[in-house]
Amino acid sequence: EQIDSTVSITVVGASGDLAKKKIFPALFALFYEDCLPKHFTVFGYSRTQLTDEELRNMIGKTLTCRIDKRENCGDKMEQFLQRCFYHSGQYSSEEDFLELDRKLKDKEVGKSANRLFYLSIPPNIFVDVVRCASRTASSPTGWTRVIVEKPFGRDSQSSGELTRSLKQHLTEDQIFRIDHYLGKELVENLSVLRFSNLVFEPLWSRKFIRNVQLIFSEDFGTEGRGGYFDNYGIIRDIMQNHLLQILALFAMETPVSLDAEDIRNEKVKVLRSMRTLQLDDVVVGQYKGHTRGGRSLPAYIDDPTVPKGSLTPTFAAAALFIDNARWDGVPFLMKAGKALNTRRAEIRVQFRHVPGNLYKRNFGTDLDKATNELVIRVQPDEAIYLKINNKIPGLSMRLDSSNLNLLYASRYPREIPDAYERLLLDAIEGERRLFIRSDELDAAWALFTPVLKELEDKRIAPELYPYGSRGPVGAHYLAAKYNVRWGDLSSQYS
Ligand code: BG6
Repeated sequence: EQIDSTVSITVVGASGDLAKKKIFPALFALFYEDCLPKHFTVFGYSRTQLTDEELRNMIGKTLTCRIDKRENCGDKMEQFLQRCFYHSGQYSSEEDFLELDRKLKDKEVGKSANRLFYLSIPPNIFVDVVRCASRTASSPTGWTRVIVEKPFGRDSQSSGELTRSLKQHLTEDQIFRIDHYLGKELVENLSVLRFSNLVFEPLWSRKFIRNVQLIFSEDFGTEGRGGYFDNYGIIRDIMQNHLLQILALFAMETPVSLDAEDIRNEKVKVLRSMRTLQLDDVVVGQYKGHTRGGRSLPAYIDDPTVPKGSLTPTFAAAALFIDNARWDGVPFLMKAGKALNTRRAEIRVQFRHVPGNLYKRNFGTDLDKATNELVIRVQPDEAIYLKINNKIPGLSMRLDSSNLNLLYASRYPREIPDAYERLLLDAIEGERRLFIRSDELDAAWALFTPVLKELEDKRIAPELYPYGSRGPVGAHYLAAKYNVRWGDLSSQYS
């Protein structure tokens, strides 16, 4: 079947940042690994006038080979670039897309032609492009699919409108909504860890788990992206999608099978069982300027693309709850921030105390430190580790918290593919498991929309925190309200 068909991948917004940094390199990596169909072409589409050669030069600079597979890298790049073409056009011109259609046809071989459009463009032109592409450049002989990436609106209403507009031109089956966190290796592994290890699944409930923490931090600010960011803020940028998706995968019931629809059904169920987030369960922050070691670090509002006096949060912490039998009363704490002291994404599962712990007195007053904690570090330095209590070797009975450690770099020295590689491959293969269905998106917005509106209507001022710090103290008070300590800050073994 593959030999008899062509797949054309059109990157709309080809001269943008995401395309250069992620999409073209991911396509090349797939080509390098022989994962792309035999007949494929890559088209760049944007308004800038470029020749094929200029596009090749532009993307050629961004391609790299995996460290462990350097042979033939140059040849492979050349072969890949020869399959890349460019078409310049307006985003709302059906004629320009019709011309693209002609160019695509010229390159298509075999009985069927399949077309994938990657919309790497601002959301206000999603619908224009989809209209033009579906009217004049969809494939008459094979599938036509469209990958879109957030922001999918800024609240329930605008997201719903976007979905309705997209569905005037496409069926749900044709829409692949990316959340690139779902393509990350350790996020994919979450289900494997839980469902195929006897030692974890039986513990996965309120009976044994005290709280779950989903933590995202970056050690840089908006750095030139302030114009986009200011209209969204960290809750929409990270929590409503990346962290919530991880939460859904973490907390869902066992799906009937590994089929996309079965998994997505369970994710929607758990999202719909969640309590709408309340204002007093949210803390917002914004970074301020700071001088460290003679270097001055800017405040968020120093970003020239950010309006003066902006109240947009660059940090947020939130406590969420799932009102179902498995998770009743267990706080799911989220924390996300930019311009913090470190770059990290992780899931922390804090287990309950051992009832009537025989060794209680060996822990002194701080029994909290003696609870087990499972940490899944999504990035960097991917790892899974479990904190256990252990006897310090020697004649006395002294206990210590130690880690059972799975460090990916030592166990799996192979480089881990970028999330976009997995997602692009899945979109080409029609595997929808890692893409967001529209009902999932609705459920995700329903949880956050009221609080986002309240924050904006009441003009709640974010708590300022210095660039490069650990974030606002408000996050500790929020955790303390639920008797929780943030694992990444309180633990000496973090
Ligand atoms: C994006 C956000 O979705 O994810 C960015 O818009 C953020 O603000 C990025 O920097 C983080 O992705 P990653 O893969 O680098 O952790």
